[in-house]
Amino acid sequence: MSLKTALVIIPTYNEAENIKPLLLSIIATLHEVTGYSVDILVVDDYSPDGTGTIVQKLAQKHRNIQLLSGKKAGLGDAYIRGLRYGLDQPKYDAFVMMDADFSHSPSYIPRLLRTLDQGYDYVIGSRYIPGGAIPDDWSILRILNSKVANLLARTFAGIGRTVYDATSGYKAIRTSSLQTIDLDNLRVSGYFFQVALTYAFNSKSKLQITEIPIAFENRKNGASKIGVKDVVEFVYCAYTLNPQSSARTFVRFCVVGISGVVVNLGTLTVLVRYFHISPLLGGAIAIETSIASNFLLNHVYTFRNDTGSSRQRLIHRFSKFNAMSLTGAAISFAVFSVLYKFIGLQYIIADALAIIPSVCFNYWASSTFVWKDRH
Ligand code: GDD
Ligand code: MN
Repeated sequence: MSLKTALVIIPTYNEAENIKPLLLSIIATLHEVTGYSVDILVVDDYSPDGTGTIVQKLAQKHRNIQLLSGKKAGLGDAYIRGLRYGLDQPKYDAFVMMDADFSHSPSYIPRLLRTLDQGYDYVIGSRYIPGGAIPDDWSILRILNSKVANLLARTFAGIGRTVYDATSGYKAIRTSSLQTIDLDNLRVSGYFFQVALTYAFNSKSKLQITEIPIAFENRKNGASKIGVKDVVEFVYCAYTLNPQSSARTFVRFCVVGISGVVVNLGTLTVLVRYFHISPLLGGAIAIETSIASNFLLNHVYTFRNDTGSSRQRLIHRFSKFNAMSLTGAAISFAVFSVLYKFIGLQYIIADALAIIPSVCFNYWASSTFVWKDRH
């Protein structure tokens, strides 16, 4: 069997204290790698602390170390530059991506590559599958932060059933599979890159994704480079990544629901104040007005990918939507009564809680019953 070649890509920004021991540690692990000769590429963004110079020096002694320097434009941009550099040289059969701060122990490199050889295209070093771990000393806030980011990414990307650690930066990729992915299309410069790449692999049904457990460790020296801008970009990218995701449809549905509340209150006020209609009749008209406006907005906005909207179908749908709204209101009222009367919650709290099951019911009924022809 001929020896394959892998390129380990390590992005760095101000990792002067970590990079030399890390590179030496990787080199020390390489004897455990079977079937691959391994090169290492450090993608440094002219780090002011001299990370690049340290790598350059090491590269003189170790022929498999290379340095790629560039302007600072975020983690995702650095990865794309590194991957492009690797793809331009036909010798690489696989890429490994990892952080420079010892959070990703080099000891997993052999297993990541072995798993590729089992026929997988994309192998993630995962903290969130059995056997994986995060450091013991993480605060609740840090754990929550990581889990929420992960959950957000998985649900909005619609990859929750394939991938449990969507934000992990430790992975191995088969080059021939990466060549089928349009890196230009990822359009992310920051930390969301990991999710965007995983999503892109997951969108190709032929490509096989898997995870191996890793124990994620605290960075050895220096500080994380994540900033507020990265968080904002992350949330925005998570939301826009997959327009078809049901999580995104649900957000649109909730936005419409809130607009319905405004329509309801507005109609009631106008009818009672300016048309002097009794509040009871006004309330009934206001409810139907908001049901109608919710219906129209859901039709053109929330479920806009639906097919077939002949007038007859629309009227049929509207009657279904009315039936659904009535049922939703009944559920809400039943739950409210239980919480208020039997459990004795304060009435506003009881009502606020009672809205939750009815929104869930309404969403479920809308997407499977009223607008079921979506594609
Ligand atoms: N070239 C370059 N340019 N490298 C960068 C940049 C940049 O703009 N920003 C960060 N890096 C490098 C860091 O030097 C480090 O080697 C690696 O990217 C990860 O950066 P950290 O700042 O250590 O990120 P983190 O520990 O907060 O986040 C890690 O874990 C997350 C999941 O919890 C990363 O692996 C993320 O990708 C991952 O989502
Ligand atoms: Mn880190």
